[in-house]
Amino acid sequence: MSDKTTGQGPAAPRQPIVAVLGHVDHGKTTMLDRIRSLGAREDRQASIAERESGGITQHIGATEIPSKLLNDLCAPLIGEKFHSSGLLFIDTPGHAAFNGLRARGGSLADLAVLVIDILDGFKPQTEESIRLLIEAKTPFIVAATKIDRIHGWKCKSNRPFVQSLPKQKDGPRSILDEKIWALIGDLASHGINADLYTRNEDMRNVVSIIPCSARDHEGIQDLLAIIVGLANAFLLDQLGVKNGGGARGTVLEVKDAKGMGRVCDVILSSGELNQGDRIILASESGIIETHVRGMFRPRGMSEMRDAGDRWDDVRSCKAACGVRLLAPNLNEIIPGSLMVSVGSDDDRKEKEAEVLHSSTSTIKTASKGIVIRGDSLGSIEALAAELTNTNAKVVFAGVGQVTRKDIRRAKINEDPLNRAILAYGSIIRQEIRDDAMNEGIEIIEGNIIYQLIDELITWRKERKEALQNDGTTPSIYPAEIFVLKNHIFRRSGPAVVGVRIRSGRIKVGQRLIRMNGEYIGKIRSIRTDETSHDSASAGDELAIAIEGGIVGRNIEEEDHILADLTSAQARMLGGGSLDEGTKLALEIICSIHRKNDHFWGR
Ligand code: GTP
Ligand code: MG
Repeated sequence: MSDKTTGQGPAAPRQPIVAVLGHVDHGKTTMLDRIRSLGAREDRQASIAERESGGITQHIGATEIPSKLLNDLCAPLIGEKFHSSGLLFIDTPGHAAFNGLRARGGSLADLAVLVIDILDGFKPQTEESIRLLIEAKTPFIVAATKIDRIHGWKCKSNRPFVQSLPKQKDGPRSILDEKIWALIGDLASHGINADLYTRNEDMRNVVSIIPCSARDHEGIQDLLAIIVGLANAFLLDQLGVKNGGGARGTVLEVKDAKGMGRVCDVILSSGELNQGDRIILASESGIIETHVRGMFRPRGMSEMRDAGDRWDDVRSCKAACGVRLLAPNLNEIIPGSLMVSVGSDDDRKEKEAEVLHSSTSTIKTASKGIVIRGDSLGSIEALAAELTNTNAKVVFAGVGQVTRKDIRRAKINEDPLNRAILAYGSIIRQEIRDDAMNEGIEIIEGNIIYQLIDELITWRKERKEALQNDGTTPSIYPAEIFVLKNHIFRRSGPAVVGVRIRSGRIKVGQRLIRMNGEYIGKIRSIRTDETSHDSASAGDELAIAIEGGIVGRNIEEEDHILADLTSAQARMLGGGSLDEGTKLALEIICSIHRKNDHFWGR
């Protein structure tokens, strides 16, 4: 519509949608902050990373980098011919929310930037990101960030990497070289050919590595230029603006926004959406038709999820963009599903089928098996795919919080090795934890798929051993634990803290709770120096990694905490002979649980 009135001839291709992925703390948010600040004028906002609680990204959002800014920045590096239609960056939080950007047969993202801390190298979420990118067939580049941390490297603000490299001394250059080769090797072990971007002559088959520093503003131009170059060279077909067909986008999130009511955040990936347009979406109970009552976009270069009150009320918007929709009837909309606009005389049946299809997972469920929960359709699909590789079956898979019904679903399983719920990035309320505990259902939770699978395998193995034991030899004990002062090694994801076991024993996989019964997390690993252990007992001082633990939020130094048991485990231990310390720890744990359930552990 508005194309016709602008008189600009054929519409330019839309901006590529670029996802940013990588391991926790490797610098994704800082990189986007830096990119945003390149175009900063007087209305510049303060950095988002600085304001995020604990530095962890809480929500998913989008940032648009306008074409003029990109062209101005990158033309000196690439030459006069440089032209882009702008970029739409999606900031994925530490836990691979890339999954939430699922689109039919792949990902909503046209391209991705995999952020890797050059000194830290490959980490679990780097591996997971690569698996997701390969699965979704999304082309990507590697930002080898934090080069300022290379000993002796001298950064200069706003200098491209190509200009910086010749200025560095031999020492730092050879460290860089060594680190880049290490990355090339790690990527090769995943079947990916990669090379330093300045040497890469085959962008279609070889992944470019761009060294940069988000902190010191170096190499950011190179990064942007390579992204735009890649998009221009290989994605123009995909980015061509189609005539007709209406608007379509992917639902990121539906929530109650302050002062707005119920809203739906969408990444519009094709077409144009106007106020008043009728749209269809997928809900838990089928197709919902509604109309766009209001549309909001973040002002200028401000970040979508951080716009505060800087929202512009827009009448119309064009792909690609992140937009917040206000519409009646936005209940139970499924994140990750499609939103499509519908007219009166178009191919509505097909569109409905497409939307419905986008909301149904491809997961095959069996009559018996594990229950899985995730924060988006993409995440449960990825989880189910990994699970089937281990010969486990899925009895139910759903998006959203773990519910009481899930506990019943898990409990119906006759095979005790199936009585588990895998929860990826979903919220678990305390009542549900208590319920699961009382019903003997194991909830295995986390934000890294393969770790969830590993934990399930370990749990099954231990459970099997315990069953073969006839339940006569307990394999798990309670413990009282003291968190040592000045021994916080990592604050979150997982928290790593030094502890002293005051009484009892701890074991990898065991739950930790506070003295008031509040859940902290699970012991992921136990270490002394370089050695890892499966368990530890009274008197030991060592470091434990706690999945779910966040220092300053649910755990502090000098805290007294407990290693927890299930009711059945407590019952079994109660009948045996225990040393005084363990007996005391058991009594404390029983008294905590018995506040809610008189028969706990009896
Ligand atoms: P999550 O959202 O938790 O997954 O982390 P993230 O990947 O978004 O990392 P974030 O941007 O929050 O950065 C993590 C830490 O690394 C912060 O302390 C940053 O200041 C620091 N950091 C990020 N980029 C650089 C860099 O280029 N150089 C240096 N020296 N530090 C950096
Ligand atoms: Mg972040």
